[in-house]
Amino acid sequence: MKIAMIGTGYVGLVSGACFAEFGLDVTCVDKDHGKIEMLREGRIPIYEPGLDALVARHAGAGRLHFTTDLKAAVAGADAIFIAVGTPSRRGDGHADLSYVFAAAEEIADALTGPTVVVTKSTVPVGTGRKLQRIFAARRPDLAVDVASNPEFLREGSAIEDFLRPDRVVCGAESEHARDVLARCYRPLNLIETPIMFTDLETAELIKYATNSFLATKITFINEMADLCERVGADVNQVAKGMGLDGRIGRKFLHAGPGYGGSCFPKDTLALLRTGEMYGAPLRIVETVVSVNEGRKRRMIRKIVDAMGGRIEGATIAVLGVTFKPNTDDMRESPSLVILPALRAEGAVVRAYDPEGMTEAAKLMPEVTWCEDAYSALEGASAMVILTEWNQFRGLDLERAKQVMREPRIIDLRNIYDPAQVMRAGFSYTCIGRPATTSAL
Ligand code: UGA
Repeated sequence: MKIAMIGTGYVGLVSGACFAEFGLDVTCVDKDHGKIEMLREGRIPIYEPGLDALVARHAGAGRLHFTTDLKAAVAGADAIFIAVGTPSRRGDGHADLSYVFAAAEEIADALTGPTVVVTKSTVPVGTGRKLQRIFAARRPDLAVDVASNPEFLREGSAIEDFLRPDRVVCGAESEHARDVLARCYRPLNLIETPIMFTDLETAELIKYATNSFLATKITFINEMADLCERVGADVNQVAKGMGLDGRIGRKFLHAGPGYGGSCFPKDTLALLRTGEMYGAPLRIVETVVSVNEGRKRRMIRKIVDAMGGRIEGATIAVLGVTFKPNTDDMRESPSLVILPALRAEGAVVRAYDPEGMTEAAKLMPEVTWCEDAYSALEGASAMVILTEWNQFRGLDLERAKQVMREPRIIDLRNIYDPAQVMRAGFSYTCIGRPATTSAL
């Protein structure tokens, strides 16, 4: 079984390497010569745990190839996956499909025989039908089946998510397309993964509905956290108590500074635009988007309040700036709103992130980037935990106290036990747990 993966961004690269793990012969294609050269040399352009070893193993075994030559890659492929970017279009929030359509046209022109073209990129409802029209118009001589196979990978655990998914969704309308996709995912039969076959529109919508629902779950618990602070309840316990109800589930109920990343913000907006276009307004998703935007700004006030209402001239140490741990991705990270605002209010911001600093330093040159957590804490009047990297969970609090100007922790991910940090002599502010407690 031979497949081509068009686009070696995050989704394309992970999916390509994992399909090779499933035993398929995979050729990953990208227009970016530099990137392909890097991959051929065994260097991985993104940070994703385990991906380097997986790529090395399958490239070494001759099952995973990298090329800029789309024409050669698609020739004779049983399936061609489109995994190019679909960023939010500037201004209107619609997903920008220009890369998807350009890839489809190029594939159409390069095809030498019938095949199945599968979108892996997150594409709005109706895109599959448009692709069908492109192939019918450009290659009336060939039978090209269009299918939709959305991905549900989380950055940081993408390989595990691909190899052991909760389900696989395939929008495939012909017997042949269903058969090809079933063969691509055959190893998952062994672990009895549900493989769901639907029409194109349904598969496309499952992806957006899933991400929007998860964003809703997070936003719901974030608002509950605000209420917990007012009434003196503990949001961690509220989430646990809710989550133990099997109808709700415990995952994605961690209160924090608001969701970010390359998916939830973009996909919720795109779904809203789809709802508008089809005259089916999505008021819940609309509220989620605006509550989440407001939340990032509320976090600024929370930090300032915890520091006595004024931060001018104070040094603030920020630990973690990526949108979540185990990634170097800075896209839509709450840090991009919070750090510049702290600077604008006159604070000196010293920050450290295990993987995100190269990118973050380009986006926020006004921040002082430090080589580790303790160096960021030097002279600081507050330690703000913004991303819950494991290494921040077990900090030596005694050492931290010694280098800080004032022993104050503002934990926006609730990774510390309030009693423990207060015993260590810190003032502690967190999210949705009994009001700010002070040892200062
Ligand atoms: C998300 C989905 O989880 C994947 O299933 C999907 O495939 C992917 O988008 C995509 O569409 O490509 P990802 O963006 O990598 O994956 O990250 P998540 O782990 O979902 O986290 C998203 C944001 O929500 C992060 O900012 C995280 O900190 C926040 N979050 C998550 C919370 O604040 N609380 C939670 O309980 C969970």
